[in-house]
Amino acid sequence: MPKTIKKVGVLTSGGDSPGMNAAIRSVVRTCAYHNIECIGIYRGYQGMIEGDFKEMGPRSVNNIVNKGGTILKSARSLEFKTPEGRKKAHENLTKAGIDALVVIGGDGTFTGGLLFNTEFNFPVMGIPGTIDNDIFGTSHTLGYDTALNTVVDVIDKIRDTASSHNRLFFVEVMGRDAGHIALNAGIGAGAEEILIPEEDLGLDRLLESLQKSKASGKSSSIVVIAEGDKIGKNVFELKDYVEANLPEYDVRVSVLGHMQRGGSPSCFDRVLASRLGVKAVESLIEGKSNYMVGLQNDKVSLTPLEQAIKGKTEIDRELLRVSDIMST
Ligand code: F6P
Repeated sequence: MPKTIKKVGVLTSGGDSPGMNAAIRSVVRTCAYHNIECIGIYRGYQGMIEGDFKEMGPRSVNNIVNKGGTILKSARSLEFKTPEGRKKAHENLTKAGIDALVVIGGDGTFTGGLLFNTEFNFPVMGIPGTIDNDIFGTSHTLGYDTALNTVVDVIDKIRDTASSHNRLFFVEVMGRDAGHIALNAGIGAGAEEILIPEEDLGLDRLLESLQKSKASGKSSSIVVIAEGDKIGKNVFELKDYVEANLPEYDVRVSVLGHMQRGGSPSCFDRVLASRLGVKAVESLIEGKSNYMVGLQNDKVSLTPLEQAIKGKTEIDRELLRVSDIMST
């Protein structure tokens, strides 16, 4: 018989992403639906260590489904990486009567949750929240769809000015280790070239491609670069390199930065968050632990946290080919 869950703690940790609030709302209301208490833990694992808790009823999450960021705040806790920190956190949870956790975040969040479970046999479920979409076991992480729409919207605006001035723009998007945003937003926004961490395109090919596009009659171009791309030069060095080698180009740089993490979540992210929150709480009620809830073939699924952490998400290489064809 699984232990009866009476009180669930929910936290957001690591980089925030649009849809986290919708996921908190879903966890809180699913708990209420099943007559389980829910406690919000502020500032991720750091708040667990400091006992920064607040009871959350279904009305405490009114009017947040549409809000970016996270009402529970987020933090990257160094103290939680120490056994002493985790012990303190466990003591606080026990004192508050919390008997299961839903953790919303990325790799680091899941690693913390798994470690906590191993040390204290504490039930944990993960919900993937990061704009990078780099979590194994789900086709979409919370915030990814919104970030794609944000990036495409901004590049559309950049295209207006690029075209007016016959300029080439290098647009840097987020993705320290993953090129999902760059690749998909790049195709969606009609980029000439897309540089990603998973593939070294090479500087020669970039120059060749830009030369070709000029020769084919294009007067302006957009190149999308993931911040962690493999080409080995940052976006400003690339600008200088291209200007030095292709003086016919007038180049500008736009680094989109953290604006990609903000904003009202898309309908897709709100629905995803609602579905994942329900599954996370109901899985805990069923006595499950150490899973990440995710989306696979449009069905909500469970992936062991360990696999979610260790597994590598692959980019869809066909998208690279599509991008090549589109820039003909
Ligand atoms: O949310 C993920 C991410 O956007 C990465 O792509 C980026 O490198 C990182 O967060 C930056 O986050 P921070 O500024 O919070 O360290």
